[in-house]
Amino acid sequence: MSDQTKYILNETDLPRFWYNIAADSPVPPTPVLRPDTLEPVTPDFLSVLFPMEIILQEVSTERFIQIPDEVREIYKLYRPTPLIRARRLEKALGTTAHIYYKNEGVSPAGSHKPNTAIAQAFYNKVAGTKALTTETGAGQWGSALSLACNFFGLELEVYMVKISYQQKPYRRVMMQTYGAQVFASPTDRTNYGRSVLAQDPSSPGSLGIAISEAVEIAATSGGAKKYSLGSVLNHVLLHQSVIGEEALKQMDMAGEYPEVVIGCVGGGSNFGGIAYPFLRENLKNGKRTRLLAVEPTATPSLTKGVYTFDYGDTARMAPIVKMHTLGHGFVPAPIHAGGLRYHGMSPSVSAFCDAGLIEAVAVKQRETFDAAVQFARTEGIIPAPESAHAIRAAINEALDAKMKGEKRVILFNLSGHGNFDMSAYEAYFAGRLEDYEYPAEAVQAAMAELPRVDMLV
Ligand SMILES: Cc1ncc(COP(=O)(O)O)c(C=O)c1O
Repeated sequence: MSDQTKYILNETDLPRFWYNIAADSPVPPTPVLRPDTLEPVTPDFLSVLFPMEIILQEVSTERFIQIPDEVREIYKLYRPTPLIRARRLEKALGTTAHIYYKNEGVSPAGSHKPNTAIAQAFYNKVAGTKALTTETGAGQWGSALSLACNFFGLELEVYMVKISYQQKPYRRVMMQTYGAQVFASPTDRTNYGRSVLAQDPSSPGSLGIAISEAVEIAATSGGAKKYSLGSVLNHVLLHQSVIGEEALKQMDMAGEYPEVVIGCVGGGSNFGGIAYPFLRENLKNGKRTRLLAVEPTATPSLTKGVYTFDYGDTARMAPIVKMHTLGHGFVPAPIHAGGLRYHGMSPSVSAFCDAGLIEAVAVKQRETFDAAVQFARTEGIIPAPESAHAIRAAINEALDAKMKGEKRVILFNLSGHGNFDMSAYEAYFAGRLEDYEYPAEAVQAAMAELPRVDMLV
């Protein structure tokens, strides 16, 4: 039997098409509503924030959408990404399972986020946009969009959650190196930021608040600036499908097919990216791969949230979608996986979870870092705290297979490296990490604040 470790595709194998799960979804799409009127959004309403090509992709049901040459050229800087068989981790666990991971941490920004950032910057450039606005939590998305805007000559304003701005100065400097302007949110640059600061001058910020600020700046710019979102929406998951398409070919090179595919979930984009091409194989070609989304117990939108209509942001300016939500006013515990601290979830991941087509599990912070350190010490890569959630679940699967004496083939997405997350690792080694369980009562209480749309749809 082969003892190969890395499965590397050629540049010519870089996908030419993104895969759109909407074409094969057995679950009907749910409407996206205006936050002010609760009526379905129109392209006119969305065009304040997004260029038309992105809006068309958001609602497209075409199965394969061609990747523009300009986007593929930049993808070639880091794609196809390697698929690695985690042989040293397998050995350390003494497992009968085979563990594979797709390493998206090799992108210049350090995560999967450039897969959509490059595409979004391109479509904006073509549409004549001069500047973009966005939010970022831990800084991975902000760095990815900074990189992409730099390549396409667009200006970028990043609203970075204040606590992360203070805790992660090097992510901020990275964004500035690519030419972006970075502001600690809440700022005094927006009406919404000023209203938050008036109530709480020392507000640490949240992803929901930062989204509101970035949306407000774009929406009041008279068309000069557009807004870009790094997760949740259909077009973002579409762009991430290159991960799963490559992984299908690489698993084939390895002569195996995964029984379980695992990804961490914040808004759902890296999970959708790796899982949806395998979901297509389940739906169309009789495969039976389990698709497992992993979230923190501190932000358990899929495992404890309610599947209903909610606003995408705290200030209720972003569209309302049907999703698993903890309520748009959710203020997350200060866990170190900043990219997983969102109150909602991608509508498609939510719908598939509700329909039983994918599974979800929540893991605690300390056990997640146990897994991250075990991975670093065996495979050598220090994972992003977000990605470590997928590693925890993959190790749990491998240990379960060992107990049952099964040869289980496990594939997980290593969504990013953690080289800028040393303060999180330092806190872990100092014994300062806490486990947080978000209480079910808090979810119930938040439901009183939901938009009243259930009777309309
Ligand atoms: C490394 C990494 N993984 C995962 C995520 C979660 O996002 P998503 O669910 O969209 O993949 C983030 C978000 O910032 C991230 O930085």
